[in-house]
Amino acid sequence: MRKLSLAALLLACGGKPPIAMTPHKASSTDAESMFAPLDVGADFASYHKVSTEPFLSKTHGGRFVEVYVNDVGLKAYMSAAPFPVGSVVVKMSWEPKDGKPSDVAGPLFVMRKEVADYAPEHDDWYYAIRWETPPPEQLRLLGGPIYWRGRSQKVGYCQKCHDNYDRSMGGVPTGKRAWEAK
Ligand code: HEC
Repeated sequence: MRKLSLAALLLACGGKPPIAMTPHKASSTDAESMFAPLDVGADFASYHKVSTEPFLSKTHGGRFVEVYVNDVGLKAYMSAAPFPVGSVVVKMSWEPKDGKPSDVAGPLFVMRKEVADYAPEHDDWYYAIRWETPPPEQLRLLGGPIYWRGRSQKVGYCQKCHDNYDRSMGGVPTGKRAWEAK
């Protein structure tokens, strides 16, 4: 009885059955917007750290970041060479506090060079942002931990900006590049 009235309530909402209120595209898109354990880049602790210390990234929420590149992508990252398929770049971040990095972890940002035709209009890069422990305020805004990636339309803003850069790479600012440090 109780179940029935709940269903009636839902169906009555807006005068349309709930199914019409939640248009879904390809289910793979949805899956890649759902929180899950870190997939691409999960082994980043074994990568090469290409930044000397956390630096302020205005384009990534005014957070402090450090950059890690795997073996496959290292040479290209340090030069102007094209990135081989399988290159992975991971950016860790920390929330700022008084102009310095705090010990509160921000999102993890990931890029991986995919095979040709994965996303030709975006230089065939895969993008991901994963934030397991957003502080209370962001948690409210985001509705929970996030892991937007791959075909999810939620990484469209990453592509939009990164498409402007040479080989889609923003790079580490001069003075913070580990490979140029003495
Ligand atoms: C408004 C522009 C902008 C947006 C939006 C943006 N980025 Fe970036 N990204 C940059 C710039 C500039 C750099 C290099 C300097 C820095 O880190 O601040 C960078 C650096 C990176 C790096 C390190 C590799 C590199 O490019 O040198 C990764 C990984 C990355 N971004 C991933 C992402 C992901 C994932 C998103 C979306 C969730 C995103 N970015 C959104 C501009 C942007």
